[in-house]
Amino acid sequence: MINDLWYKNAVVYCLSVETFMDANGDGIGDFQGLARRLDYLAGLGITAIWLMPFQTSPGKDDGYDVSDYYNVDPRYGTLGDFVEFTHGAKQRGIRVLIDLVVNHTSDEHPWFQAARKDESSPYRDWYIWSKEKPENANQGMVFPGVQKTTWSRDKVAGQYYFHRFYDFQPDLNTANPQVQAEILKIMGFWIQLGVSGFRMDAVPFVIAKKGADIDKAVEQYDMLRTFREFLQWRQGDAIILAEANVLPKTDVNYFGADGDRMHMMFNFQVNQTLFYALASSDCAPLAKALEATRTRPQTAQWGHFLRNHDELDLGRLTEAQRNRVFAAFGPDKNMQLYGRGIRRRFSPMLDGNRDRMRMAYSLMFSLPGTPVLRYGDEIGMGEDLSLPERKCARTPMQWSTEPQAGFTKSEAPVVPVISSGAYGFQHINVADQRRSPDSMLNWMERLIRMRKEVPEIGWGDYRVIDVEEEGVLAIRYDWRNNAVMIVHNLNEKPIEVRVDPGRGQGSELLVDIADGSDSRADEAGVHHLYLEGYAYKWFRVGGLDYLLRRTQI
Ligand code: GLC
Ligand code: CA
Repeated sequence: MINDLWYKNAVVYCLSVETFMDANGDGIGDFQGLARRLDYLAGLGITAIWLMPFQTSPGKDDGYDVSDYYNVDPRYGTLGDFVEFTHGAKQRGIRVLIDLVVNHTSDEHPWFQAARKDESSPYRDWYIWSKEKPENANQGMVFPGVQKTTWSRDKVAGQYYFHRFYDFQPDLNTANPQVQAEILKIMGFWIQLGVSGFRMDAVPFVIAKKGADIDKAVEQYDMLRTFREFLQWRQGDAIILAEANVLPKTDVNYFGADGDRMHMMFNFQVNQTLFYALASSDCAPLAKALEATRTRPQTAQWGHFLRNHDELDLGRLTEAQRNRVFAAFGPDKNMQLYGRGIRRRFSPMLDGNRDRMRMAYSLMFSLPGTPVLRYGDEIGMGEDLSLPERKCARTPMQWSTEPQAGFTKSEAPVVPVISSGAYGFQHINVADQRRSPDSMLNWMERLIRMRKEVPEIGWGDYRVIDVEEEGVLAIRYDWRNNAVMIVHNLNEKPIEVRVDPGRGQGSELLVDIADGSDSRADEAGVHHLYLEGYAYKWFRVGGLDYLLRRTQI
């Protein structure tokens, strides 16, 4: 039921329209501004854009509180501007994914307004109500410390309503067939306007049974098949990328054993152990996570990332591991959030250490799956810790040294531009980095090109190779008689390692795709590699011309 597996080897770039580029000078990013930046994105080499929510919204959770699913928020433009944008993206070979936020609506949504006012309204059952405050009302908050309860009393309805997230985000009763039909309709609408799929928000909560009498999580996985079938039948190459921070043993329920549910999922397990590996130079938990998340149907794919628009959630690490990451990358309480994560941008977490950052991106890009980049990370943008919660890492894109980083002509940008310190736009911006061959931006462009030239990563079988050094990770990929072995040294110090990539297929010769250097095996078939501190090596096994084996499905 699939007619294109483009997402197996995509490079995704996520951004928020609001903070990317303002074309009309009102201080708020918009679709016209974004459209003008499409050539920048095409130049970077990304193949898909994931847009954070841009539908009509009171904007209390940066658009994750939708009040009209069928419109563009007027601050960002019109539906016409949106279609101009998707058309422009398509012309450049860039696909567009959009956020699908249907676990909840804004409390200002007309559905909720109708539901609260009238018990006999057909919309009443679109939400979850209770006459009494349920006993477990102080459990299961997603934003502990900020959010006090999951059940709040609505004065108008005279009842309590359920909200997994903030109190202005009442949960939809997703078990209601009418709600499900509406979700399909929303998907159908946007694919008609040119999108290639959806990043589905909070999937475990969307499919959870909801109600005052529900004590433990019961997932209705069938719903996922319903969503996928609809989408696929409408448009064969459209996909769903699920946000589901779940344990590896449940992954298969999300992908579907036959590959009939979600096409993609973010790999939170690998993300957290990757940060632990960076903090401790101990790759063992990361290798274990790669093994634990191995099983997936052939047509499914992982999304890998370093940072996203939320806090870096470390909730699945052990306490000792988590504390290690806190100590390394977010030691101040003010850098931490919800008792489980770090709210910083990637570059300042690593003190802007160029070599270390490059090694980390190279590592993320070489993991079995599809890389997802966050806007601004390609130039190493920083955060503004004076902004609340996750807002600190959502500041406007820094384009140039012009006022407001060239983001807007207005003196009052919607979110303050970072304009002082080492991460201020005077020092970190696109215009300067374009001119400098060795900048993060130009390096990232080369990394993206290299990743696209190695489809083995997206398609192939992989194996973590034992190198007897816990700070070094080596992964070998095999696909269609081609093989690569990618080696990273997470240590600051140089190190020599013995690597046996396995016999056959020209394993005696390794050629680094990036710098052309090579290595020959000894008689036992072992390579003795000297790795600089934070080295990253992408070896083609057998040293074949890297452009020869290009056979995309
Ligand atoms: C997801 C989003 C987050 C949002 C929440 C509620 O976790 O990533 O940004 O606040 O859902 O929609
Ligand atoms: Ca604007």
